[in-house]
Parts: sequence; C-alpha cells; structure tokens
Amino acid sequence: MKLRDRTKQISGTLGSHRETPSYVPILFLFDIDPDQRASVAALLKQRVGLVTELWLHVKLAHWNVRGSHFLAYHELFDSVASHLLAFQDLLAERVATLGGRARLMLLEADVPKMLDPWPQEAHEESQGLKLVADRLGLAANTIRRDIEMTARWGDADTADLLTEVSRQLDKDLWFLEAHLAIPDPRQREQESMRGR
Ligand SMILES: [Fe+2]
Repeated sequence: MKLRDRTKQISGTLGSHRETPSYVPILFLFDIDPDQRASVAALLKQRVGLVTELWLHVKLAHWNVRGSHFLAYHELFDSVASHLLAFQDLLAERVATLGGRARLMLLEADVPKMLDPWPQEAHEESQGLKLVADRLGLAANTIRRDIEMTARWGDADTADLLTEVSRQLDKDLWFLEAHLAIPDPRQREQESMRGR
C-alpha cells in the first residue's frame, strides 16, 4: 500500500474515534517493512558504539600527543573527535526515529569492542596519527558497507545519513594521511635503486 493511502487510512480510522489523538504516530506512517526497520535500528546501535569508541580513542590521542608539531596534531584530533560526536548523535537519533531505543552498547560488559585497545604507553605524534588513521579507516570502510546494506533494506534515508557520515570520515582520513606524509612506494624504490 502506498504511503499516502496508508496515511489516509490511518487518519480516517483515527477520525472515527471520539478520543482522536492530536497527531498520527510517525511509525505508522513509515512504509519500511517493520522487520527491515528493526534490522536497520540494530545495525545503527552498533555503529553508535563504534563511533563512541573511536571518539574516545581520538580524544586520548588529542590529550596525549607530544612532539614538535603538538598544536597542529592536538587541534586536528579535536576536530576529528567533534565530527565523531556529531555522528553519534545523528545515528542514535535515527535509531529512535525508527522506533528503536538508543543504547550505548559500548558500556555493556559482554559487548565486544570493535577497535583494538588504545595503547596506554606514550607515543610520539606520528605514531598517534597512524593509530587514529587505522581506526578511522576501519570505521569508514564499515560505514561504506552499511550504506549499501541499508539501501537494500529499503531505507534510503538511513543510507543517505550514513553517506554523510562516510563522506566526512573519508575527508578526515585524508587530513590525517596528509600529515603522515607517507612516501610514494615508487619513489622509495627509485631511491633504493639509485643507492645500489
Ligand atoms: Fe581539548
């Protein structure tokens, strides 16, 4: 049944009642299959955990970075962390919109963490940057797969929201990698040939 027809049907049913609520609950208006909606909400709950875990790691990098480029790295990590907090809110609110309950699964003891633990020992700036970039790359690739999956489940809006998250993660990854200045492998090869 088309959404417009379903809306009309619900409005008609409600209209025939004495105690007509002043609004139509939005979940009745969704034409996404309830099972698929539940699957999307369950997936998003996991991603709320992922971005929260990642946020904490990036903040640890922000607080503990040391080195001659301290300020640039300190501010870069804070900018990435602020994006992750915004994603956490977007994703958790989408869970609630879909009729799920936003939970911070990260805080539940029996839920495995998605990221490797953040090393507690001190590390200099480029090591911290590499640790953050690795984790951000994992999250970016995970979210990219989620876009396809949620689109297949018929939830184009969640796919669009995840696309927004993915685009920013990719951009942050670019910013991080630009600071790493990884030498081009072809250049390294040429240099080693010259040295022979
Ligand atoms: Fe700070």
